[in-house]
Amino acid sequence: MAKFEIEGQQKLHGTILVCGAKNAALKILPASILADSPSEISNIPNISDISVMIDILRSIGAKIETQDHVATIDPGNVDSHKPDTDLMKHLRGSIVLIGPLLAKFGHAEFSQPGGCLIGARPIDDHLDIFRQMGIKISLKNGKYTLVGKPKSGDIVLNKLSVTATENAIMAAVLSPGITCIHVAAAEPEIADLADFLNKMGAKISGAGTHDITIEGVTKLHGTKHDVLPDRVEAGTYLIAAIATNSELKIGPIIPNHLNIVLKKLQACGARIEIIDQNGQKYFQTRKHKELKAVDIDTRTYPGFPTDLQSPFVTLMTQAQGKSQIFETIFEGRFLYLEELLTMGAKAEIVSPHIVNVSGKTALRGKEIFSRDIRGGAALVIAALVAKGKTIINGLEFIDRGYESMDQKLKAVGANIKRIGD
Ligand code: EPZ
Repeated sequence: MAKFEIEGQQKLHGTILVCGAKNAALKILPASILADSPSEISNIPNISDISVMIDILRSIGAKIETQDHVATIDPGNVDSHKPDTDLMKHLRGSIVLIGPLLAKFGHAEFSQPGGCLIGARPIDDHLDIFRQMGIKISLKNGKYTLVGKPKSGDIVLNKLSVTATENAIMAAVLSPGITCIHVAAAEPEIADLADFLNKMGAKISGAGTHDITIEGVTKLHGTKHDVLPDRVEAGTYLIAAIATNSELKIGPIIPNHLNIVLKKLQACGARIEIIDQNGQKYFQTRKHKELKAVDIDTRTYPGFPTDLQSPFVTLMTQAQGKSQIFETIFEGRFLYLEELLTMGAKAEIVSPHIVNVSGKTALRGKEIFSRDIRGGAALVIAALVAKGKTIINGLEFIDRGYESMDQKLKAVGANIKRIGD
């Protein structure tokens, strides 16, 4: 299995380019099967989650060509409502295929999707939405069968779930009448999905707020779309730059998507400028004095993103003082901490949702294991800071969410190499 070998304490300098958002592209690709003609989607990150989603879409008949961050999807031959079960088990995000399948066929069969080890990841909120839309749901030997065309009307989510909101939108766009989705999640990736669907001819308003209104249309046509920048990838490299006290330019990015992250990092003492280059925005970090510990609580957007909780904890090991990390979204998102502690970090897990970190501690390189995408990223940052060599196993997790992380870091001076295949 592939590993990273990282020699820590290199100063990084230069520019890290940010890819299109994984958590937008993973919904826009399945949304394209709702059209009756091909779509061209650009700025798609070259990561394994996207490859799995493309294989799942091919398993129901979609014709997909990919070339250098661009995918062309011809939905003309999509003729099955039974996506490949094994492939779905590899990708929690594949749950968002169900909305489009119900809208297109009035039928969907699938098993519980898989994903990261960051919590139970139930799908009860998704099923609740479909029940509200009049869908008949049965479960036999671990396989769900959903039957019925989604009905318009008022839908109220159980909680602010990102993919459940996206499933509701995609299920409703072809339903005659008006659908109002209440208690909708408001992440920027949801607004990007709605933007894509509206370019296909859908009539969606309010995406990016907690109340979304959809006027059903009879058909949708293919379109072109450029996926928005990945705020989680950008935030990860921003934290890496601050943890190593390096001067890095990171982008393109929509700074507004990381307002609370910028505020918290500046509260720690980080120095971050926002610069304009060819009409696009970039973060530019500057050297800082000693960092101060600050508390965070992860929340739904625009709160502190749970996907940046683990990188931020690594940063807090390098900040003076105690910080409390309250992970309110997932109950199993501290897996990476065990590895951080063996590198010399000081932290106490108070509950499945709370960790207290004491800094500043010197980290020492050693062999460690990554077990989920963002936990893996946190361990890479720790290795960049640590004295000596770190071997990180489990690159299959990191490669799910970060395109060419080793190449991007090596290009700005990190001593990192990928060993094994
Ligand atoms: C999306 O997952 C993202 N994934 C996650 O990113 C992200 O961490 C999460 O939203 C929160 O922002 C994709 O978009 C593909 P939720 P999602 O439904 O939609 C509970 C990454 O690293 N819940 O908003 O699955 C759930 O367990 C990934 O890029 C239910 O109880 O998350 C969690 O506690 C990780 N029942 C909370 O809601 C349900 O039916 C929020 O989850 C669904 C969710």
